[in-house]
Amino acid sequence: MSSMGEDEEVSSFFESSPPLKKMEDILQKLNGFIEHNSSGGGRRIVCVTSGGTTVPLEQRCVRYIDNFSSGNRGAASTENFVKAGYAVVFLYRSGTCQPYCRSLPDDPFLDCFQFLDNTNIQVHSSHVEAVKMAVMDQQAAVAEARLLKLPFTTIYEYLQMLRLIATALKDVGPCSMFYLAAAVSDFYVPWNSMTEHKIESGSGPLDIRLAQVPKMLSILRTTWAPKAFCISFKLETDAKILIDKATKALGKYKVHAVVANELSTRKEEVVVVSSSGNVVVRRDSDKPESIVEDNLIRLIVDRHSTYIKESHS
Ligand code: PMT
Repeated sequence: MSSMGEDEEVSSFFESSPPLKKMEDILQKLNGFIEHNSSGGGRRIVCVTSGGTTVPLEQRCVRYIDNFSSGNRGAASTENFVKAGYAVVFLYRSGTCQPYCRSLPDDPFLDCFQFLDNTNIQVHSSHVEAVKMAVMDQQAAVAEARLLKLPFTTIYEYLQMLRLIATALKDVGPCSMFYLAAAVSDFYVPWNSMTEHKIESGSGPLDIRLAQVPKMLSILRTTWAPKAFCISFKLETDAKILIDKATKALGKYKVHAVVANELSTRKEEVVVVSSSGNVVVRRDSDKPESIVEDNLIRLIVDRHSTYIKESHS
């Protein structure tokens, strides 16, 4: 159980957050998606979080602090979850990497196309295959209601949306999963102590006091969605402390596994830390197309199947 202190910190974070825009619209999409996928066949549903949250420094935000994440892990994992038969709520940072778009050039995206005449724009032959697969796979996932994409930018939006999703998924129980790959701010400026207008420059160095963002993992596990299967991530730049930190997070937050990754090698290997031991998961280096998420999601899906079986017995 989380202590009173933690609960109070969480409540005060939400009470002081600016209200989520378009909340009714988000809830309607979310409930429709969950209803569609959980009724009848009872498809498994995973919430994949992806990209970094921002911390605004001004209410009418001009400047903000950002958290590193390209969104590649979340996008690639989403594709693999859909392939494995899951419905995915993809909670992503606006402007980060999207499922099915990883093989498209993003810099500049317009290089994909050729302008022939006023009525004819064609995909460049070098990109035909990538564009075809991206359009087909993305449209199929959305048309079959396997993929719901919900964007966020700030820490305030992210945590409010995570709470909405967790609460909406509560009745799906063990068939639901949280796969928390987003890089979430640890420090923020509380909304009510934030200046409204752009901070003026010209008056010397700027002192800002950042408050600690309450860890939401405990409350997610104990209150929002206690029956869901929950995977969190641990990112470090110092390989020497990575496994120790991940092991501590596993014990503290009682998640089902922590995926530990080091910044510079994160595309080559991760370590899945759980109570059944540590498993190193690598991309298949002999296959150029292989990505670490192919093997990672296979392992996570297996673990989720065992969890569902055990929950029913
Ligand atoms: O997007 P890419 O470029 O492909 O990179 C992927 C990645 C390296 C970003 C990803 O694999 C990863 O490690 N994501 C988590 C990074 C992170 O922010 O770790 P953390 O130590 O801050 O948080 C650990 C866990 O606590 C996370 O699961 C997070 O969801 C959770 N958390 C964090 C802060 C907070 N206030 N509440 C939380 O619950």
